[in-house]
Amino acid sequence: MPVKAIIAGIFSRVSMNILVVGSGGREHAICTAFRRSPKAENLYCAPGNAGIAAIANCVNIAADNVPALADFAAANAIGLTFVGGETPLALGIVDEFERRGLPIIGPRANGAQLESSKAFAKGFMARHGIPTAKFTVSHSADFAILELESGDFGGVDSSVVVKADGLAAGKGVIVAKDRADAKAAITGLASIAGSAATDKIVLEEFLTGREVSLLVFADGENFALMPAVRDHKRIGEGDSGPNTGGMGTVSDDALLSPAELSDIVERIVKPTLHACRREDINFRGVLFFGLMLTANGPMVLEYNVRFGDPETQAILVRLETDLVDICEAILAGRLADMEIKWTKGSSGCVILASEGYPGKPRTGDVINGLQEAAAIPNVAIFHAGTARDQAGNFITSGGRVLGVTAAGADVSAALATAYEAVSKISWPGMQFRRDIGK
Ligand code: AMP
Ligand code: GLY
Repeated sequence: MPVKAIIAGIFSRVSMNILVVGSGGREHAICTAFRRSPKAENLYCAPGNAGIAAIANCVNIAADNVPALADFAAANAIGLTFVGGETPLALGIVDEFERRGLPIIGPRANGAQLESSKAFAKGFMARHGIPTAKFTVSHSADFAILELESGDFGGVDSSVVVKADGLAAGKGVIVAKDRADAKAAITGLASIAGSAATDKIVLEEFLTGREVSLLVFADGENFALMPAVRDHKRIGEGDSGPNTGGMGTVSDDALLSPAELSDIVERIVKPTLHACRREDINFRGVLFFGLMLTANGPMVLEYNVRFGDPETQAILVRLETDLVDICEAILAGRLADMEIKWTKGSSGCVILASEGYPGKPRTGDVINGLQEAAAIPNVAIFHAGTARDQAGNFITSGGRVLGVTAAGADVSAALATAYEAVSKISWPGMQFRRDIGK
């Protein structure tokens, strides 16, 4: 073997300390993917959770404490930081780490606006001809009501979608069935989402079609597609009841035909990344396209500038390529040189939630059957709201508790395995949907 190749081989095998920022099921799945890498030396998660603590060192720093995270990364020779959620990205964690020479995966604050401001995202799409619902942006509730009454924001019927501009943890979007409903939604937004989120209000044409999400790794120039995913947002079976952060997901290649996928890539993914470059957004990280497949072609419902939760749980159980290698390629702008491999077939994630969720959850119950469930082949159980009691038992500590995830030859096989694992787990008041993937 030539000397250069040997040196390159040794160099690429150098291990590093890794920090994951966040505390949910998504971060547990990200930590699990890093833990599989021979290049991961010490793995840290800030702040992590009781499940993550089994595979990583949990560090007691909140995900939005950017200065403390940067100090920790510098002091602990962190070679790679991976940000799970949108809040630190919107706060400029990437700008701060880059300023201090600390390698980090995620967009800077200017790119994070694609998620943190719906008005920015809509304007961006309009400027660059990226298909999305017709819209208007109003700077106060009063103006939004005037816009609503003049009705010139489009819309096929009397339905209107009312969106708070800022990050609102999934509570800032209301699909109103008529103008009266929309008016009530506008008036009520401030109290639901917090007043800062309603500095601007977006009114949007109601789109119909099939919803699907597509995530990509991006290195500023190139991108690599992940398997398409679909989530189930409502708490109840048959998509009933209030919205949640997501009650389950499936990843399945059949969610998009080759023609649909290439249409999305050509009309949405490439134009978005091209537009980022034109607006001086160096998008390095994960870009999530929430899409509606309408009769007029695919349209963007929303961008997220990071992995989704619980999409990630279903996606990463199928990742065969080393996540550290992917991150190194993102940082080096070399994604185009790399083939990212996924297991064939499908996967599904079923969220187990506490009684009361998505309202105030009941917590503190001992979770039974975790070991038995985890022993089932092809099952991965990702923790979100769990803690340990004094006896060492896992107990519930939040609304979303576990993401029971399984891979399989097709969606029904994956979900049959996931539901078999679910059947072993119990605590008082546990809720889940039996129709994920249906
Ligand atoms: P968003 O956070 O913008 O993705 O909105 C959350 C959910 O609201 C989406 O997943 C859709 O189910 C629904 N939604 C958002 N915008 C629209 C729209 N323009 N038409 C129909 N449904 C929408
Ligand atoms: N599951 C959608 C999100 O992570 O925002």
